[in-house]
Amino acid sequence: MCGIYAYIGYEESCLECIRGLKKLEYRGYDSAGIAGFYKGSLKAVKAAGKLHNLEEKLLSSTYKFSLAISHTRWATHGKPNENNAHPHFDEKQHLAVVHNGIIENHAALRYEMVQQGIRFSSETDTEVIAQLIALASGGDIIQKVSYALSKLRGSMAVALLHKDYPDTVIAFSRECPLIIALEPISGQAMLASDSNALPAMDLDITYLGHDEIALIKKGEVLFFDKDGKPLHKRQERLVHDAHLISKQGFDHFMLKEIFEQPDTIRAAFRGRLNEENAAVEFEGLNLTPTDFLNIKRVLILGCGTSYHAGCIAAHLLEEYARLPAQPAIASEFRYQNPIMSPDTLVIAISQSGETADTIAAVREARAKGAKVLAICNIKDSLLTREADSTIYLKAGPEISVCSTKAFTSQLTVLALFGLYMARLRHVGRDDGKRFIQEVYQLPQLVLSILEKAPILQELAIKYVGYNHFFFMGRQAMFYTALEGALKLKELSYIEASGYPAGEMKHGPIALLDENLPVIAFACNRQTHDKLLSNLQECKARGSPLIVFAFEGDNESASLANDIFYIPFISDALSAIPVSVASQLFAYYTALARGTDIDQPRNLAKSVTVE
Ligand code: AGP
Repeated sequence: MCGIYAYIGYEESCLECIRGLKKLEYRGYDSAGIAGFYKGSLKAVKAAGKLHNLEEKLLSSTYKFSLAISHTRWATHGKPNENNAHPHFDEKQHLAVVHNGIIENHAALRYEMVQQGIRFSSETDTEVIAQLIALASGGDIIQKVSYALSKLRGSMAVALLHKDYPDTVIAFSRECPLIIALEPISGQAMLASDSNALPAMDLDITYLGHDEIALIKKGEVLFFDKDGKPLHKRQERLVHDAHLISKQGFDHFMLKEIFEQPDTIRAAFRGRLNEENAAVEFEGLNLTPTDFLNIKRVLILGCGTSYHAGCIAAHLLEEYARLPAQPAIASEFRYQNPIMSPDTLVIAISQSGETADTIAAVREARAKGAKVLAICNIKDSLLTREADSTIYLKAGPEISVCSTKAFTSQLTVLALFGLYMARLRHVGRDDGKRFIQEVYQLPQLVLSILEKAPILQELAIKYVGYNHFFFMGRQAMFYTALEGALKLKELSYIEASGYPAGEMKHGPIALLDENLPVIAFACNRQTHDKLLSNLQECKARGSPLIVFAFEGDNESASLANDIFYIPFISDALSAIPVSVASQLFAYYTALARGTDIDQPRNLAKSVTVE
């Protein structure tokens, strides 16, 4: 939800921190700040609003920091203003803290300290961390942090500076990621919320684990457990590919990531399909075929777009693998008392692997004895460490807040998983081969849609003046409609709802008139005739009708005000090309409306708080 970046090295630390924060802005961008030592004392510069406000302030600041901690915020406690921006100090300004996460017992701790006469200067939960460490009596900074960790409840990734350790960045983590990097030759050291922020050089990196503490100096990192005992941690070499996190000439990361989808869908199935045996082979699965054969029920957890992928996957598993499967919104599931058993498989879908609700739901499922399979895009993310096994999307970094390529990679991986489970049960080789041949067609089919992007741009411009849209479909097209509505909502701030087309007559049809365009996804052969009736109903009430239909669907074309053709593919996979077309429609609508496409207001890329 927030981004942390710290730097120790030769360059001017402020510039390097601003560079790092720019790569983390997608995690939160309502205020930002930086702290360092200047003439022997701790100083901070903070600014409300986007990062460029802090950048401008630094240009006129006299501070030159030899090392610095910095932060870009997505407000949870306290308004997004300069006073609540991180870093936060203790009362005596002996230490400065930046934090990602939520301190759940911050109010009780704040109350206790106020009773002791401590004065607070912000509304944030983060300030409680600074005051608590400063209050810890005796011992070195490790003991003080260890004390604070014993008192704090909730999730946290923290970087701090202390006046007694002017050459050191201190860090600790619980449930929120922190990566520590050393450049082996120069000794430059960095700390970041994710590897996207690290500089374009080969680095030795280490992931900070649960309740672990680190002391980071130039050329040296020391690790400790929550009790202050030294730890030895494995380093790995991160070879930098700047190409991956640049826009590569596109106007927005989102457009780049939409156009990457032929490649990312191919990456999702490459090396995992054996056409000869019509088999699926996932590398690194810690669950055996026998484990999967013993599965009697599948529960699929996720949030937002990932939840929509789970809905489509559940539909596939029931339809083709004949396995009872149901999707669940993780933020709801985690507070239920679910009925689970050892023969239940939980599939947890998360692009970032950091979504707090999904992590908490997974923990609840595991507590009830379920096996957990993660579908994730980020190696070593928290979710992958909680799950029994992980299937990676291999989609590369997804920078835009609105998920596009990760969604279609999730659908591809989940389709392969559906085939895997179906082949373990009743699906024969020939049917399996036919499915695999369709999967192989996906990249080309998606490419043909990308080539028609100008048509979708024209469509978006034609309808840009409307303030409400109604998406509908049947079967997998209903869940695709949910995702299409979410994309339009989060990108262009237009009210849009997704609905099962068959449900229209049970209420929503009252909304229909010439001011409410209906976007219908007709790419489901099994229910196509039923959908045509729904199109008639919408037309009869004057709603402008935009239909995404298979090529040659003249019946839909005869009813639509505007139609966008999708090359034919089976119902099991049609959500993928339709979603790509829908992403482009949402992108071009937002472009026409002038909203902030890669960083829509109020959003963050990974929601690491509840
Ligand atoms: C995607 O467009 C949304 N920004 C959001 O719904 C996202 O899918 C959701 O927060 C889940 O994120 P995750 O996949 O990283 O868990």
